[in-house]
Amino acid sequence: EYPNEGKVAWKAPSNIALVKYWGKKPNQIPANPSISFTLNACATTTSLAFQKLDKKSDTFSFDLFFEGKPKEDFTPKIITFFERIERYVPFLKGYHFIIETSNSFPHSSGIASSASGMAALALCLLSIEKLANPTLGEDYLKMKASFLARLGSGSACRSIEGDLIQWGAYEPISKSSDLYGIRYPFRVDSVFKNYHDTILLVHKGQKTVSSTVGHDLMHDHPFAQQRFQQAHHNLDKLKEVFEKGNLNEFIKIVESEALTLHAMMMTSLPNFVLMKPNTLEIINRIWAFRKKSKTHVCFTLDAGANVHVLYPESEKKEVFQFIQDELVAFCENGHYICDRIGHGAKQL
Ligand code: PMV
Repeated sequence: EYPNEGKVAWKAPSNIALVKYWGKKPNQIPANPSISFTLNACATTTSLAFQKLDKKSDTFSFDLFFEGKPKEDFTPKIITFFERIERYVPFLKGYHFIIETSNSFPHSSGIASSASGMAALALCLLSIEKLANPTLGEDYLKMKASFLARLGSGSACRSIEGDLIQWGAYEPISKSSDLYGIRYPFRVDSVFKNYHDTILLVHKGQKTVSSTVGHDLMHDHPFAQQRFQQAHHNLDKLKEVFEKGNLNEFIKIVESEALTLHAMMMTSLPNFVLMKPNTLEIINRIWAFRKKSKTHVCFTLDAGANVHVLYPESEKKEVFQFIQDELVAFCENGHYICDRIGHGAKQL
């Protein structure tokens, strides 16, 4: 029996891909498998209040508040999300919802909130399902939350659990799926425990090209097939890298993935460039410092100009000093976020 009214809330983290998802088939099916670190500090908190309608409506209804204020520009995204998931969430049309959401990171910092936001909302909906069906198991709820989140934003399916999440059918992992993310099942060396990600906010404005458009441009892309194969190869190589804690190989794969993602953008038709001069300045300084210091600092990028600086816990002092001395100057207003690998979403 579904309750007449109530309120549920979740905090879901963002994630940063190591092997990138770029290119998709219909229904948010990824063109290649990907793997990501779940983050800790960058997160979205969402509460979902629900009130049963007198009779089942033929459409869903909701009010949306972002950081305490009504937010119209998110409405179309939520409508699209609800339309895609209504067949899997039959109670959606029986309630009026009040969605209140906020991010831990500053608004318009150039950090996308779609992954953490869609993950938090999907988890809230699953909590309502659990209220009506208390015997549903944790594994089912996590898997379905990831499945629903994927329909909101592909990479959101990797924002339910921690620490290392793999999404997309990938032969060596029999239970992997295009439909939801799973925890990476192989051994991971302890050097990756507490791994740091300091996010340098190079450019806080809106991206000139959305990731939806970017994914679409992988259709008919001259290098698409090679790229999708390369992602498989990189996942193959990462298995041993994680098992042995081989940071030098880790760096090669992760940086190549980041630059390849941007190379795909630059070789799309029409082409586009999301890196800024300071993105390249930071990359060059990371390379120079790594050579000089013998640390294992490396970078990755998502679909934007900001740089994620990755390094192990044991090197945090030296690398963080370098970030402050040399890299912060290239951030917009000196802004950056200290994050690290995290353990997944939490119910509040
Ligand atoms: O989830 P989307 O559709 O916003 O795509 C995200 C794509 C990248 O962030 C660039 C890569 C990834 O795997 O997260």
